[in-house]
Amino acid sequence: MTQDELKKKVAEAALEYVKDVAIVGVGTGSTVNHLIDFMAGIKGQFEGAVSSSEGTTQRLKAAGIPVFDLNAVGEVEVYIDGADEINPQKELIKGGGGALTREKIVAAASKQFVCIADETKSVDVLGKFPLPVEVIPMSRSYVAREMVKLGGQPVWRENFITDNGNEIIDVHNLKILDPKNMEETVNNIVGVVCNGVFSYQKADVILLGSANGVTTS
Ligand code: 5RP
Repeated sequence: MTQDELKKKVAEAALEYVKDVAIVGVGTGSTVNHLIDFMAGIKGQFEGAVSSSEGTTQRLKAAGIPVFDLNAVGEVEVYIDGADEINPQKELIKGGGGALTREKIVAAASKQFVCIADETKSVDVLGKFPLPVEVIPMSRSYVAREMVKLGGQPVWRENFITDNGNEIIDVHNLKILDPKNMEETVNNIVGVVCNGVFSYQKADVILLGSANGVTTS
């Protein structure tokens, strides 16, 4: 089974969490794109969605799924999103697609965060996947120097602007043994808008797709 087939399988399994819910928070990425395709088939069973990126909004609308402003709906019942890395504590690295800030906002505003991923995303320690850090453009070099002090190797994601008009630094070679501490430390660097450690907004449920099926933890 290919990685994309596993993503599709796990996205289908997540439909269970969408049924009979008013508003679904929808993440960003290729796994979530499969979810949106499946959601299109059960449109009557939920009211609509809150989106975590412009890309997801476009896809939801193209599928005929109403998209609501987060400010208009308040707390969201369930948020479903992928991840770049998942540790055994259900803490994540996210932001490979650059949507980390809005993803973290919708996750924070949701009662339950269901993370959907293929088994390659499961790790013991976060950090092999470069940590995405969204920064105010004028702070990029300063933040990069601060990330070097934390032991990382920052790489500017060139020719990429986030939905919020900011830039991304991908920080390589971090061994994130204490995700909460790393999330706080990076957030405290002036100029950082958000970083891709999801420890305070970790997942409540992980659906992991493998050739043997989908496991829930
Ligand atoms: C986007 C994300 C995605 O959830 C993450 O990159 C996983 O993507 P995919 O489902 O394509 O593997 O955080 O900002």
